[in-house]
Amino acid sequence: MSKIEFPQNFLWGSATASYQAEGAYKEDGKGLSIWDVYTHIEGNSKNNSNGDVASDHYHKYKEDIKHMKECGQNSYRFSISWPRILPEGRGKINPKGIEFYKNMINECLKNDIKPFVTIYHWDLPQSLQDIGGWENKETAYAFRDFSKILYEELGDKVELWVTFNEPRFFIYSGYLIGNYPPSYNDPQKTIQASYNVMLANAFAIEEFRKSNAKGKIGLVHSFSPVYAISDSKEDRIALRNADNYFNNWVLDTAVKGKFPQDLIDKLNRNYDLSFMNKEDLEIIKNNTVDFIGLNYYARALVKAYTIGETVLKVNNSGKAKQGSSKIVVKDWFEMVADPKSKFTDWDTEIYPRGLYDGIMMVKERYDNIPIYITENGIGMVEEMVSGEIDDSPRIEFLKLHLIEIYNALSSGADVRGYYVWSTFDLYSWVNGYEKRYGLMYVDYENNNKRIPKKSYHWYKDVINSNGSIL
Ligand code: BG6
Repeated sequence: MSKIEFPQNFLWGSATASYQAEGAYKEDGKGLSIWDVYTHIEGNSKNNSNGDVASDHYHKYKEDIKHMKECGQNSYRFSISWPRILPEGRGKINPKGIEFYKNMINECLKNDIKPFVTIYHWDLPQSLQDIGGWENKETAYAFRDFSKILYEELGDKVELWVTFNEPRFFIYSGYLIGNYPPSYNDPQKTIQASYNVMLANAFAIEEFRKSNAKGKIGLVHSFSPVYAISDSKEDRIALRNADNYFNNWVLDTAVKGKFPQDLIDKLNRNYDLSFMNKEDLEIIKNNTVDFIGLNYYARALVKAYTIGETVLKVNNSGKAKQGSSKIVVKDWFEMVADPKSKFTDWDTEIYPRGLYDGIMMVKERYDNIPIYITENGIGMVEEMVSGEIDDSPRIEFLKLHLIEIYNALSSGADVRGYYVWSTFDLYSWVNGYEKRYGLMYVDYENNNKRIPKKSYHWYKDVINSNGSIL
């Protein structure tokens, strides 16, 4: 292989999300989010942990940005806590919330780090959940108004925006699997919430284009490129069903402005889609993204559905639970585990090649649209030994994925940046603090002290060499 060299203007970054990083959950006028409420209910998260303090990024962001700078990173992806800006989800603005994000952005710019803002990374204001959350179209209108405030307040300094982080993941977890708030197990509600989120995405893009904000706007998708175990007719049908289930309703709708017709036809047979209307669909059609963010953790390998009820079992329990996940969607497809593959402690397949294939799929389907790899990383249980963290498996993981990105660039894909998940260890939703992803270790027992891991130093060398050490 010839020497690896990423494009000169490539963005090298890392990412966080407000609820997982900031803490300060009641400070400076912030309202409660659904996650604040959910994690305070016993039994909802690992060891009943919560993001009250998280990694204390609210107080340590300057130090964190300094670490990014020293690592050579030139972009930082973070999200805005909606209830920090609008404690009730709508109405009165909390000036301290605006101030916090202005400071964060200024600190990035001072350090030549391009801020990449995610408008929504799952921390819906509880007051909006109280009116029905994403099932209620009112929430989509509230999101539009929230986005407008952000463009007005921050739009002169931010060039990269995304409306949502992973619609598929938070909707399915909250409405279909039920292991995230609002904890439903209901396909009809899932469909309605999905529709409202894609409508909200279009509303926010419409507002963006009306505003004076500079830059570009996209959406981040939890990308599971789908493979079938064979080329039989049945498996090919399963592949298409799974692709609609995992990817197309988000990507097609965001990029082409239209829900996949075969998906709508299939859903129409069993569910009530009367909430869809011409006016909304017109808004969705006319307000599509400038780029796509892909979060890549694993692919989906599927075969034809055979028998039995829908099972959606995901592993949030960690170590020694490999083999405990199962996804069967009745009449659609069954997911299978490749016995030859390696899996993380949390049962996620390690499959770097899927990133290459996935990028190429997106390139082909969506007319060479610009792509950012907005998350990629591996969750592990880690311990400090003599003050150091040797996370060599993470280095290997990131390295293999970066090589696939380079291969995709060499095949003509327009990949513009890469963000490691995560900047430092974070609160991992219902997995609590046990599952670590960071380039920097957070010593939760010791004032949340940051300690760069081996991967931090390695990432610095990758960036400094523009990829050639890979
Ligand atoms: C992505 C999310 O789906 O995966 C992150 O955008 C999340 O917020 C990450 O933390 C890893 O998932 P988990 O559950 O292992 O923390």
